[in-house]
Amino acid sequence: MARPRSTNKLILFLAASAAALLAAYLFWSFAADVRALLEHRMGSSSAASADTIVQVIKLVLVGIIGYLVVRALNSLFFGLAFQLKRIDAPTLIRNIFTIVAFTTFFLIAFTWLFPDVKLGALFTTSAIFGVILGLALQDTLGNFFAGISLQADRPFQVGDVITVGAQRHTGVVDEISWRAIKIRTFTNHVVLIANSNAAKEPIEVCPRGNLNARLVLFNTLYTDSPAKTIHVVREAVREADNVSEKVTPIVRIRNLGDNGVDYEVKYWLEDYAKYNDTDALVRQRIWYAFRRAGINFAFPTRTLYVERPGRLAQRDGDGGAVVERLSAVDIFAPLSADETTLLAQAAVRHVFAPGETVIRAGDPGSSMFVVHKGKVRVQVSENGRPRTVATLNEGDFFGEMALFTGEPRTANVLALEETEVLEIGHAAMKRVFDTNPDLVESLSFIMAERRQGLASQTDDSSTNTHSSAGILSAIKRFFGI
Ligand code: CMP
Repeated sequence: MARPRSTNKLILFLAASAAALLAAYLFWSFAADVRALLEHRMGSSSAASADTIVQVIKLVLVGIIGYLVVRALNSLFFGLAFQLKRIDAPTLIRNIFTIVAFTTFFLIAFTWLFPDVKLGALFTTSAIFGVILGLALQDTLGNFFAGISLQADRPFQVGDVITVGAQRHTGVVDEISWRAIKIRTFTNHVVLIANSNAAKEPIEVCPRGNLNARLVLFNTLYTDSPAKTIHVVREAVREADNVSEKVTPIVRIRNLGDNGVDYEVKYWLEDYAKYNDTDALVRQRIWYAFRRAGINFAFPTRTLYVERPGRLAQRDGDGGAVVERLSAVDIFAPLSADETTLLAQAAVRHVFAPGETVIRAGDPGSSMFVVHKGKVRVQVSENGRPRTVATLNEGDFFGEMALFTGEPRTANVLALEETEVLEIGHAAMKRVFDTNPDLVESLSFIMAERRQGLASQTDDSSTNTHSSAGILSAIKRFFGI
């Protein structure tokens, strides 16, 4: 069975420590003999040189032991901090600790072994040494201090996803050492960015605990309804794995493109490091949702439409549904099947987005509407504020007042959801009235009722004057019946 890496390291460390201690013990025991041997070899005049060599070897041995002690202290101290407080110290802090502790230890050992050498004087007087050291360590020190400022600033931490510089290296931060930031890219490569370079470059940070968002683009044919598309995609995306439940995805139109309507879906991730997988899953969910809802992706096509004047029932091929809808409208109940079909053929279909105005109060109007799909709200203005007087559903009609009397529109009518209406114009209605004069009477009752409703909502006394009989004669006069 393979031993864990940490056990191997410990065994190696203990072996190195034992070897170093043994070497030091032996050298100390035989130091006098070594000195005598050196003097003998180099001649009796060079006693001082032999002494220096022995002291230097002692310093090297003490340095090795010191280094091992500092490493042991480092592991003990930071390992203990992690055990007790769950604080995982960054590599840079560990490195700084090692450097400071070892330098202090080394200087103490140096002064102990070479009491006659004045260290302060050595450093201050040796200008050349300083220049050489400065030049040699220029980059290293730059990285070191940039690393310290990164640690102090903490713009990002291990585990965050960052994108660095013009080359846009993107990945998860693995380590911030005294020399470089190590990031693991999404293709599992390791990129090292020197701290001093990173300090100069713009860095995009997506912190680990933060709700980071992504945009995924898609498109549909122009014939597919935006309201339906937005609903379908939102529901499909919000259930995908790793999409945060805290924020509902946003689906919006980005552009009206050459080949279709371009959309974007913005969603928030729980784990940003998995954004590639999540983007792919989101696209997959959209594909399946489109398939179920009968929505089509747009692809580069050119469709040539030859527009021929013609009415709805012939043009759209779903005349059956329109005829069915109109025959279910109570005021058209007296019409024969042929008359309803004629009316359906004359009707023009319009689609309105949620919140769009179908009719604006005060506008002239010469057509009425039947709600084919969806819902509308009838609103009047009261003291400058909109007030709802009715909500009309599929099969209800509106806009008859202006059509039958020639007066301006009496109210605003707004689509409450994506709504399809069938518009019936003056000429088509006149044909219906010519063959069914009784229809005028039933319509005038409904109009009188609606006027009454308007009058009570708006305190408009002028609308009260329109009784059913008055409306009837107005319609007859207007249509020349
Ligand atoms: P018109 O005046 O042409 O345009 C606005 C339409 O709102 C109006 O015709 C009616 O069809 C409709 N409307 C007005 N008041 C009411 C009401 N109280 N109930 C239902 N519909 C109404």
